[in-house]
Amino acid sequence: MPSLSLQNAASLVTFPGSGPIRGTALTQPDVLAGATVVAEGGRIASVGDGGPAEATFDATGCTIVAGFVDPHTHLPFYGWRADEDSARLSGLRYEQLHAGEGGIYRSARLLAGASDEQVLDFSGGMARTMLEHGTTTFETKSGYGLSIEAELRQLRLAKKLAEAVPQTVRTTCLAAHAVPKDHMAGEWIGRVATDLLPVVREEGLATACDIYIESIAFALEHAARLSETSSSLGLQMRVHADQLEDGQAGSFAARWGFRSADHLNHTSPDAVDDIAGGDTAAVLLPGATFTLRQNKKPPARSLVDAGAIVALGTDLNPGTSPISSMPFTIALACRTYGLRPAEALAAATVNAAYVLGLEGEIGRIAEGYRADLVVLDVPDIDHLPYRPDRNPVIATVCGGELVHVASSARGRLIR
Ligand code: NIG
Ligand code: FE
Repeated sequence: MPSLSLQNAASLVTFPGSGPIRGTALTQPDVLAGATVVAEGGRIASVGDGGPAEATFDATGCTIVAGFVDPHTHLPFYGWRADEDSARLSGLRYEQLHAGEGGIYRSARLLAGASDEQVLDFSGGMARTMLEHGTTTFETKSGYGLSIEAELRQLRLAKKLAEAVPQTVRTTCLAAHAVPKDHMAGEWIGRVATDLLPVVREEGLATACDIYIESIAFALEHAARLSETSSSLGLQMRVHADQLEDGQAGSFAARWGFRSADHLNHTSPDAVDDIAGGDTAAVLLPGATFTLRQNKKPPARSLVDAGAIVALGTDLNPGTSPISSMPFTIALACRTYGLRPAEALAAATVNAAYVLGLEGEIGRIAEGYRADLVVLDVPDIDHLPYRPDRNPVIATVCGGELVHVASSARGRLIR
């Protein structure tokens, strides 16, 4: 792979240290002016005043940040559900769609009806769009299978997707997404623990296990059951927590040492200290809040101020968040959750990498880190939330390779 130099950026913004970032450190990034970053052999070789390389991208007037890490998507999936969104815009609730033939059950039918090739084409197209918006690492999940075989199929498709895209991918088993129509909740959880997770582990299909805690889905006792199995298999535990009601899932996740608790719209103020006091990341998904038009927002400011590891993701899925852009998600987080630009950037890079177990490897611009970089056509990060409808990404570098250059920026590349 030829060496690559991104030269003379107006600003290069990254976070010092090595692990996840909390509290006031979130607003204290290193900002370098007139900076050049050089990638060699897929890694970052120098930051600051790099020399020439085999390929050079002129970043004059631009900002360079670490590639965005999207720690929560529902890829691979197949097909959209715009009619459900339209029904919601006319007053129906997500829970009502889920109770009928819609919601997760609908996406499971769409996935079952599509060939492997169709699913990979559709999901690969989404991954390409994500690359154009600066996402260099993302999570994939199952959860649209709803039988042991169909969950395994979705996880194997996630593995094929990972092999086909330039991004780094980490996969989560979300078999506990909706109760299959032919099972009771507890019975299904038992099957997931005994028949599915050991195979997932054996085939290396996932590094984490997730569960949807909600009165329309699963309960805390089910999370406890899966957590026991997951820890014996070396899988991280994650949870879709308190999205539509306060199910005490945020606090439970913190007490059980889960890697993350995601959504948190209804998480109560007393759970904030539980989360902030431990190592469970709070994954905020403002795209879902926006799509569902939820008035109830997570206690995002309290989480940041109390010192929680706050991360940001798109929740890309056809039901509650048909949103794949991390820059747009950052804008939503700033405008609707009250994050500041630097906090949102840390949440979308280093802290999101932590959620996926990739801290120390991904999410920072520092020597030895994987060379995942984004060139933004803005002079500083205050511009990130400022113009939310505009894609600021003009170049994306994945593992030292320039994998996307916007047509407006072609002239900046010299080989
Ligand atoms: O993260 N809340 C549950 N799961 C998804 C929605 C999945 C769907 O509707 O297809 C979420 O919002
Ligand atoms: Fe989700």
